Amino acid sequence: MGPGASPPHLALVSPSSTPKPAAAASLDHSTMEVNKDTTEPYLSSPIPAITARWWCKDTVAIVTGANKGIGFSMVKQLAQLGLIVILTARDVEKGKKAVELLKKQGLLVHFHPLDVSDPASIRTFALWFQKKLGVMDILINNAAVSFNDLYENSVDHAEIVIKTNFYGVKLLTEALLPMFRRSDSISRILNISSRLGSINKMRNPTMKEMLQNENLSAQQIEGMVDLFLENVKNGTWKNQGWPEIWTDYAVSKLALNAYSRVLAKQFEDFGLRVNCFCPGFTQTSMTGGKGTHTADDAAVVGARLALLPPGELSTGKFYVGFNPGIISKL
Ligand SMILES: NC(=O)c1ccc[n+]([C@@H]2O[C@H](COP(=O)([O-])OP(=O)(O)OC[C@H]3O[C@@H](n4cnc5c(N)ncnc54)[C@H](OP(=O)(O)O)[C@@H]3O)[C@@H](O)[C@H]2O)c1
Repeated sequence: MGPGASPPHLALVSPSSTPKPAAAASLDHSTMEVNKDTTEPYLSSPIPAITARWWCKDTVAIVTGANKGIGFSMVKQLAQLGLIVILTARDVEKGKKAVELLKKQGLLVHFHPLDVSDPASIRTFALWFQKKLGVMDILINNAAVSFNDLYENSVDHAEIVIKTNFYGVKLLTEALLPMFRRSDSISRILNISSRLGSINKMRNPTMKEMLQNENLSAQQIEGMVDLFLENVKNGTWKNQGWPEIWTDYAVSKLALNAYSRVLAKQFEDFGLRVNCFCPGFTQTSMTGGKGTHTADDAAVVGARLALLPPGELSTGKFYVGFNPGIISKL
């Protein structure tokens, strides 16, 4: 990234140019930006505050990559609100430490190891969950990696970035799908994504057209990431119109957003809602501690989204930041 450019997570968002059906028009970017002048993140959020408790003591939420950062803060929020929460982490020791930390704050959560980049770990987790609780309501796919400092753009770790941030979500979701309660008003997946994965970041016209197609399939998305990894291998990735900032991470999140849209459409009439949330430039390990707000701030809003009241729970939406906050179609 050149000098003077915005840090990746501060990059400006412009609306996806995907044609919008009439029903989604009221949720266009331009109409959802609110309270531009306020500096108070919660007041300025278009995401409704939690006003009534619709969930019960048996409502189950799973959070991936939850030993630190936004994932940990999301677990804390959900546990404070009285849900059954499964904190997962790829490193057992780090996961247990996180659980202990919560215990000291009076919060009890379940723990199981889960490395989303490892299909065997996903299978083990799914089997454990099936035996332990069997039914789930909320899946928060939060785990992700980026190996770049803020102003770098190396693709040296592209394979693991794609494997974790895209395939990790896809494989885990597929493994857990049979265990969702399948209720239009309750069952939901919240994928923690990034505005760097907005369609407007894709400069390759063929890929852009494919991503915008209403009939986009999961196979096409896999084809896109395969092509990207091939371009990385043969050293041509810089000239193929892939996103310019944090390229490997951006491609992984583009794929995640696109997959979320496919999933949302696939399950629209089958009792499962799927949305994405970009928490904005947040002070975590991923940003070297830089950001405009803390992981706890991001998680307050993330928890609101994860717990949208049944009447306000839609599907196929991309919630970006919260100060001022934008909602668009995925
Ligand atoms: N921070 C931001 O500005 C920002 C902006 C937009 C979107 N996001 C998104 O927010 C989410 C949370 O990121 P963060 O900022 O909280 O970063 P973070 O502090 O680096 O946390 C990432 C978490 O994911 C875990 N993880 C990484 N690879 C994993 C794997 N293979 N299996 C299971 N867990 C794995 C990490 O575990 P270890 O401790 O073992 O590494 C860590 O717990 C990510 O999806 C990220 O893309 C962040």
